[in-house]
Amino acid sequence: MRLSGTFKPPGDKSISHRIALLSLLAKGECVVSNYSTAQDCMTSVHAVNALRGGAVFSGKDLNLSTNGRILTDSVDVDCGNSGTTMRLLMGILAGVSGRFILWGDDSLMKRPMERVAKPLRCMGANISCAPNGTPPVTIDGSKLCGIDYRLPVASAQLKSAVLIAGIQAEGLTRITEPVKSRDHTEHMLEMFGANISFESGAWCVRKSVMELPSVFSVPGDPSSAAFFLCGAAMLDGSEVTAEGILLNPTRVNFLEKLKEMGAQIEIHIEGDSPEPWGSVKSSHSGKLSPCKVTSEELPLLVDEVPILALLATQAHGVSAFQEIGELRIKESDRVAALVSELGKLGAKLEIDGPNLLIYGPTKLRATDGLESFGDHRIAMTLAIARGLTDENVPIRDMSCVSISYPDFFETLRELTL
Ligand code: S3P
Repeated sequence: MRLSGTFKPPGDKSISHRIALLSLLAKGECVVSNYSTAQDCMTSVHAVNALRGGAVFSGKDLNLSTNGRILTDSVDVDCGNSGTTMRLLMGILAGVSGRFILWGDDSLMKRPMERVAKPLRCMGANISCAPNGTPPVTIDGSKLCGIDYRLPVASAQLKSAVLIAGIQAEGLTRITEPVKSRDHTEHMLEMFGANISFESGAWCVRKSVMELPSVFSVPGDPSSAAFFLCGAAMLDGSEVTAEGILLNPTRVNFLEKLKEMGAQIEIHIEGDSPEPWGSVKSSHSGKLSPCKVTSEELPLLVDEVPILALLATQAHGVSAFQEIGELRIKESDRVAALVSELGKLGAKLEIDGPNLLIYGPTKLRATDGLESFGDHRIAMTLAIARGLTDENVPIRDMSCVSISYPDFFETLRELTL
């Protein structure tokens, strides 16, 4: 298989979630263009409509209309497969009077929520999870007060929940992170006029009244583009260009890894609103060097590890991904999934304590069948891996790609030579 051509990935998933969910705490009317219609982001739209209403599509635009108040005081919200929806809603609903119950699909019901409940409880929230710290999450909204909080893990979802609770709390909320993670919530709060600043290494937020901008355009999702950009770097004779994608530095560290590995990457910044965006060209350039990802870098490419791991199977030498425990608690145990499924194709992956080592290069070979574990990023990684075998290896449960990239297979077909 070779990949060639130009493509536009869907609107960024993290930014789509945030513009919809943060509208619950803001006033005004906003026309959002390029909102992602992937399943996860539609889950956030449904959540907004269950809590307040006023999130309506007109053609491709999402119209948000809000008076800054949540209109119900008792509702169950189905968060589907989306950890971002659930964790951001925890921060939003912690300060809203009423009783709210958050639940989701089989995968989400196994994911850790106590790590979010804990700091919110310190702020005065009334939140409970199941005894093992998983959903359902029950929130009895109450008055909140600010805290000084150091995140125990670099998680943008956890950071966002505390920041969002902070804009509803009396007094100052200070948040420090062990390592920088994606910063879309900070940008968006600033853009909505919230009282937020970065002082002495900490994010500081105070109670705020927020207003939506009248228009907002969601840049393309670099984490979706990554499958084809990395695919082109490993498939002989390939060259693809992703147009209109988000280039926020907390999201495109995988492009630095591609460059370090020897792929040819050209980045053109074309705009900076609401965050930097532009186009990226990636081409195959022969021999790849191993991929080294440190624990400090991991949060800046956490969603790209599956496709970078596949790329590492084609690199000459030992690739190392340090301290990747967080990947075990994503939509599936991504470490176990990569070891088993890439292993079936002949790749050599080894778990070394908290690290993942990959020995390359390996010519991948066909196998009877592969398993996506219902995880969209594993499914898309395996679809590119299948291209490396040049055989039509069956992959179970591929429909899960629609969680983040509904047109993935259509784009793959268009780019495939
Ligand atoms: C996200 C943060 C990341 C990422 C997820 C989306 C977000 O999770 O894996 O897909 O939108 O905040 P962490 O909270 O573990 O950083």
